[in-house]
Formats: sequence, C-alpha cells, structure tokens
Amino acid sequence: MPISLKNRSEIAKMRTAGQLAAEVLEMIAEHVKPGISTADLDRLCHRHIVEKQQAIPAPLNYRGFPKSICTSVNQVICHGIPSDKKILKNGDILNIDVTVIKDGWHGDTSRMYHVGQPPAHAQRLCRITQECLYQAIEMVRPGVRLGDIGAAIQSRAEANHYSIVRDYCGHGIGRKFHEPPQVLHYGEPNTGLPLEAGMCFTIEPMLNAGSHHSRLKPDGWTVVTRDGRLSAQYEHSIAVTESGFEVLTRRPDEPF
Ligand code: MF3
Ligand code: CO
Ligand code: CO
Repeated sequence: MPISLKNRSEIAKMRTAGQLAAEVLEMIAEHVKPGISTADLDRLCHRHIVEKQQAIPAPLNYRGFPKSICTSVNQVICHGIPSDKKILKNGDILNIDVTVIKDGWHGDTSRMYHVGQPPAHAQRLCRITQECLYQAIEMVRPGVRLGDIGAAIQSRAEANHYSIVRDYCGHGIGRKFHEPPQVLHYGEPNTGLPLEAGMCFTIEPMLNAGSHHSRLKPDGWTVVTRDGRLSAQYEHSIAVTESGFEVLTRRPDEPF
C-alpha cells in the first residue's frame, strides 16, 4: 500500500484527533496513584473519550483488543491490558497509550507516569526515553530519511546503556490506525524512506533497561521484556510540514 499524503484540511482533522488524545493523557494524570487499578484508569479514559469528547477509543475491539487504552507497567513493554487485578503500587512506572478516532481520523500518543516515587534508575529510564523521542521529532523535515531518525534514537539509547525494542515500531496514521510506513527506532543513517510534507506517522520508541528481547504473554497482547527488567515508551503523532514538523498530539507543557 502506498504512503498517503495528507492535505491541509486533513491535517487539521488529524490535529483535532491528536489534541483529544493528548487531553486524555493530561486528564488521567491526577488519577495515577498507588492503589488504583489499571481497569479503573481504563474506565475513566473510556468515559472521557466517549462522553466528553464524543470520540471513539480506537483500541476497543481493534483486532480483538478488549479495552479502550493500553496500560503497560514496569517490565511490560507495550499493549498491556487494563485489569481489575493490576493495582498500581508505589515505585511502579506506567505507560498509558491513548488512541482516539474523531471524525474518522486517528490521534495516537503515550507517555510514562511515576506511581508515587519510583527509584532513580526507573525515573532515568523514563527521562531518557522521552529525550530519544524529542530528539527524533526535532529531526523531522522533508528530505530526512527514516533511517536517520531510527539511528539517532538508537544511538542516544545505547549511549545511555539502554536497548531499543526491535519487534514493535512506529507507523503511518490517518484514517487508519496503522498505515505504512513502518517507523523503526533503530537503523542506519542515509537509508530508508525520505520524508515528504503531508506524511503523518508516529514515533514511539521503547527502551529497555536490559536486553532488547521481548516475549508475548499467553493473553496474545501483553508484550514483556524477556529478562524481566524495566521498559519505557513515549509516543507522539507527527505531521511532516514544508518547513519541518508539527506534533499533532502535543500537550501544553511540552517544548514543541
Ligand atoms: N496504540 C498502540 C500504538 O501505538 C497500538 C495499540 S493496539 C491495541 O500503535 F490494540 F493494543 F490497542
Ligand atoms: Co502508535
Ligand atoms: Co499508541
């Protein structure tokens, strides 16, 4: 399938969807505390998306996913399923991944949350992961190649003695949740697809404290680190513009 380019009015709709997804991540922040279950967080997000935003939570029933958000705690890399049995405890690190559909267009974003006071090494993993995402975003402009972006993420992660998950990647986004191209978070400079204005895709690096290897749990969704060590992820949906980039899922406290 070819890579779709979005025009100005289509990007405006992507921005609307992206801003709703970003708003969910802000809304839920005050609820992320020791003692709450990830199913409670899912219910709060579901209600906010459906009732307040009059939008659709894209994960719900997507390829059989049973909930409205993904909640990935500690050694869970991605696609954690919210559960009444998963009660957050002091020191956990949590990724909440929100994707909404508004007016037929998708916005996809995730961030890490500290539950209470995680140890310094866990906080550092989260911070470096966000720095990798920000460095990648700042590179986006027409002519830059996907391999340049992957290589920058990989080298920053590895310089900090972390590994990059290989088995999952970013993706084009638009009327569909997942479109071409695949956006790898590792690679070689001067390789891969050159970016063009109008492309919209996510960048969503997953960094592991230990080895990059992942394992899929028997539930068919939850992806964990094989060595049981911590993993972190941040994600934004980005549009390539004539002069550079627009972060469609930007939160007000972010630099760009
Ligand atoms: N939001 C995830 C992503 O960044 C995809 C989740 S698929 C689901 O691409 F089914 F688990 F929701
Ligand atoms: Co995504
Ligand atoms: Co996502």
